[in-house]
Amino acid sequence: MAGHRIAVIGGDGIGPEVIDQAIRAAEAAAKKHDRAELSWNKLPWSTAFYKQTGRMLPADGWDTLAEHDAILFGAVGDPSVPDKITVHELLLPMRRKFDQYVNLRPAYLFAGVPCPLVGKKPGAIDMLVYRENTEGEYAPIGGQLYPQTADEVAIQTSVFTRRGCERILRAAFDAARKRPRKLLTSITKSNALVYGMGLWDHAFEAVRKDYPDVKSNSLLVDACAMDFVRKPEAFDVVVASNLFGDILTDLSAAVTGSIGLASSANVNPTKKFPSMFEPVHGSAPDIAGKGIANPLAAVLSAALMLDHLTLASSADAVRAAVATVLAAGAVKTPDLGGTATTTQMGDAVVAAIG
Ligand code: NAD
Ligand code: IPM
Ligand code: MN
Repeated sequence: MAGHRIAVIGGDGIGPEVIDQAIRAAEAAAKKHDRAELSWNKLPWSTAFYKQTGRMLPADGWDTLAEHDAILFGAVGDPSVPDKITVHELLLPMRRKFDQYVNLRPAYLFAGVPCPLVGKKPGAIDMLVYRENTEGEYAPIGGQLYPQTADEVAIQTSVFTRRGCERILRAAFDAARKRPRKLLTSITKSNALVYGMGLWDHAFEAVRKDYPDVKSNSLLVDACAMDFVRKPEAFDVVVASNLFGDILTDLSAAVTGSIGLASSANVNPTKKFPSMFEPVHGSAPDIAGKGIANPLAAVLSAALMLDHLTLASSADAVRAAVATVLAAGAVKTPDLGGTATTTQMGDAVVAAIG
């Protein structure tokens, strides 16, 4: 019996609702397929915690997280507190502090899921987006003068390092090499953003030489956005900067049916620090508390976590159960055109795991 210590931060809005179902699915699969023991340390860090304590997490919170093998995260963000606090004091520093530089975001068109694009068959869209997760446009560097006056001035600085670009490109090329199509598309906007994106392009040209078996090309982000809609089946592995990867993965989620299905892994490949697994979506204040959020993005994120914990059979079992439930079509949350609740969707996945 191997024990895996998992820190759980449900967070705000639909975060805790979907994470509860992800835990149920991971538990069921790990018990059945890997005879593995998972321990869940539920941490109440959220907007409510902030309102009680003045902090998003306790002073020793980062040390607490560091003691775990993985972090399962819901979402943070609440209309009553600025994102500058909720997101900027918990989510974004976590990615940087734990050097989770690989943000893997798969997008797959499951059978039984209505695709907003005409004529796409199940499996036709099957891409892995590798998003740089620690620098680029999200570097916490900038400042403002005379805020909220007519003279307001703001500077928001992007930081691209050769090391930072090369390591995310290598992670993406390594993934492409293992996939049947062996295609990789590097996304920039180097026609306009000549410095940072120019450096990215230099890194891409250097790294691709080490992967002659991978067919790689470079595409500007505006054209990429168009092609994600026009011909998403053309993409296999896509690698992009922090901001472009963020935007493109809401789009890849939309073309594969719902953001309620989009999973992600924030990985520190060195394993020096814990990796974090979370749905691509946010706290969805518009549907929070109604019990209708689709939990499958969180469930599939838990599957990525099981992969990371080397519980591959369990991870595959969770993904197979999700595919079975979606293909059967009897249980669908409103985002997929049905009337099922979050818990009913979780029940269906657990039943399919068996
Ligand atoms: P959002 O992803 O929360 O919601 C966008 C839309 O998608 C909404 O209409 C919502 O109802 C729908 N949606 C999202 N997840 C769904 C699910 N599982 N099932 C069904 N429908 C779903 O994005 P937003 O509204 O722009 O952001 C809300 C808050 O969440 C903000 O404070 C934002 O900063 C934060 N946010 C946090 C994270 C995170 O913690 N990882 C990610 C994105 C946004
Ligand atoms: C995501 C979110 C975050 C991001 C926000 C909440 C800062 O949109 O994880 O996709 O942009 O990384
Ligand atoms: Mn996003």
